Amino acid sequence: MFKPSQSNASRRRIVIAGATGRVGSALIASLVSEPLDLVALTRNPDARGLPSGVSLAAVNFDVPSTLDDALRGADRLFLAHGTSPRQVANEIALIDAAVAAGVKQIVKLSAMGPPSRLHPMDWHMQIEAHLATADIGYTVLRPSSFVDILARAGAQVADDSWGGAAGDGVVNLIDTRDVADAARVALLDEAHPTAQRAYHLTGPRAVSMLEIAEEISKLVGRTVTYQQRSPSEQREKLLASGLNEFVADLLLGLDRLFHQSALAETTSTVKELTGHEPRSVAGWLSENIAKFRK
Ligand SMILES: NC(=O)c1ccc[n+]([C@@H]2O[C@H](COP(=O)([O-])OP(=O)(O)OC[C@H]3O[C@@H](n4cnc5c(N)ncnc54)[C@H](OP(=O)(O)O)[C@@H]3O)[C@@H](O)[C@H]2O)c1
Repeated sequence: MFKPSQSNASRRRIVIAGATGRVGSALIASLVSEPLDLVALTRNPDARGLPSGVSLAAVNFDVPSTLDDALRGADRLFLAHGTSPRQVANEIALIDAAVAAGVKQIVKLSAMGPPSRLHPMDWHMQIEAHLATADIGYTVLRPSSFVDILARAGAQVADDSWGGAAGDGVVNLIDTRDVADAARVALLDEAHPTAQRAYHLTGPRAVSMLEIAEEISKLVGRTVTYQQRSPSEQREKLLASGLNEFVADLLLGLDRLFHQSALAETTSTVKELTGHEPRSVAGWLSENIAKFRK
């Protein structure tokens, strides 16, 4: 599907927005050995942990000239942004700065899900609609929910308070390393630089919270249960745990999608793009099981 080229990719300048985030940092780790000029974009000028050879571009979304400076001379942009009410305005500002700078390809990290008023689905719809007005090549990556969301459950599993409103619905969780691998392939593609594409990225199969509880039980050597709650019970629990209403409602929205099995689709896209099978939830749990132990 994609055709990476060693020679043409030489010293291409790729700007990575969301570079300190989950997908962005995995993407940088996988690109750092390529003959590229990599620029990590962050709001934090003291950002640490970037591999050597990666330049840092500190941006302030309230100062548009900092975006123009970061994008100057760039060939391609990886566009990711943490979940925030500023996401739509900030991503659109980056798209506009990239177009003005002559960037030829944007790889946008979006989200799989039904058209909906739920955040962040509605935000991604607005950003994708803006991208569609640009005369530029782009690849929109729409992953299902990241398996890392289970990390939140670690402490709750350990003190036997894990639960939610997902019922027995199923969700096809994806490993962020697979999302980064797909982004890498799209960013290095030389065959279709002006193409405008969108892909749904998923793990190998959908699982329920009950199956996840069984898998964790096997790994920790004791019975772990997922406590079934109504949405209002779950909202109370989330607020009581110190989360604000915005985050609580975001998590409840996810539970609603899980309950409806709205993110249950299985695609072969990770395999087709990257050449390898998507990583499994069981594999991620096994790598991260320390988070779930008492
Ligand atoms: N979590 C999931 O299950 C999931 C599933 C599918 C799609 N997605 C999408 O993937 C994208 C990344 O989500 P994520 O949760 O994984 O984010 P993340 O990787 O934790 O964060 C991405 C980066 O965005 C940057 N950022 C810039 N402005 C920001 C702001 N105002 N608020 C927060 N971060 C800001 C931050 O970098 P600096 O601090 O260095 O500036 C942060 O490191 C989102 O668009 C989300 O909708 C997520």
